Amino acid sequence: MKTPADKAALLRKLPKIELHIHLEGSIQPGTAMELAKKNGVALPPCNAPEDLYSYSDLDAFLGVYSAISQSVVEVDDFRRICYEMLEDAAKSGARYVEFFISPHAHENVPFARQFEGIRAGMRDALTDFGIRSAIIPGMNRQQGADAGEEYLDEVLANRADDLIGLGLDYFEAPFPPELYTGVFARARKEGLRLSAHAGEAGPAAFVAGSIDALHVDRIDHGYNIVDDPELVTRCRDMGIMFTCCPSTTKYTTEHRDLTAPDHPIRVMKESGLVVSINSDDPPMFRTDLNTEFVVAMDDLGFSAQDIRASVLATIDHSWADDTDKRQWRAEWTPEIDTIVAELQRQ
Ligand code: ADE
Ligand code: ZN
Repeated sequence: MKTPADKAALLRKLPKIELHIHLEGSIQPGTAMELAKKNGVALPPCNAPEDLYSYSDLDAFLGVYSAISQSVVEVDDFRRICYEMLEDAAKSGARYVEFFISPHAHENVPFARQFEGIRAGMRDALTDFGIRSAIIPGMNRQQGADAGEEYLDEVLANRADDLIGLGLDYFEAPFPPELYTGVFARARKEGLRLSAHAGEAGPAAFVAGSIDALHVDRIDHGYNIVDDPELVTRCRDMGIMFTCCPSTTKYTTEHRDLTAPDHPIRVMKESGLVVSINSDDPPMFRTDLNTEFVVAMDDLGFSAQDIRASVLATIDHSWADDTDKRQWRAEWTPEIDTIVAELQRQ
């Protein structure tokens, strides 16, 4: 009989791809405080660094996310937060990470300076931990479509091979996906892959709108889809990938009991939707990627086979080159199968 620590250690060895993590939401509280002090930026008052990360809903969380983003200013600040994010992901067993960035959240910091630091962090993390990564700028839906067009201009001006997609994040209502039809069409024409946060604080209709109006490849979160069984069937038939983040739901949704039989991630998985396990804003939600895998098995009813299917799906639904994806499938599948067999023996 294995202990919980054995299971966590086994899961840590599982090769993983992280498809839903935010750079600015991955800043360790101690790092945020150090950078804020260095750059003379005021953070919300708190006694211990960890206390910085306390909030009771999505809106309050986004307020803290914006505040700590302001503490990241210089090229080396961006290098550091990106390096630390990828170091933590590697410790959880991630081998490839597609991460969101929020360049608009660093007021008065030119995009080019941000990209320079982020790319240095990606290079250093590849050298030191062998972890590969790619960038997805997230569009803040609360800023509106005109700002979105300007944002896309800035993103495209800083484009390189490592910038693979465009996301849509921040607070959903009253900013439905359809507002961004034009800007997402342009991004698509430019060859960017697309995803949207939907169905986290917004209704199932925002999931449908993201697919039908924005033509996204992936839905980030998607939980409220469970309110629309027909849409569930449609997304299942289309093979849409939902990048789910278990611990996030305890902070940003009403689904705070991960063991509940009607927790949406459990229902989505049981309905046959393609669901991946991700960490979103790990230190801000007091978690890491490996912990999310443990939670999926212990609380959300994922079997070892469900974990296997989910990890393999992240390869297929990642936005890496087909050659890389074929290679990862070939190389990782035997490793995954050995670990899954061991998990099944527990
Ligand atoms: N940005 C970072 N985390 C987010 C979340 N959970 N929802 C919307 N926007 C976000
Ligand atoms: Zn997110």
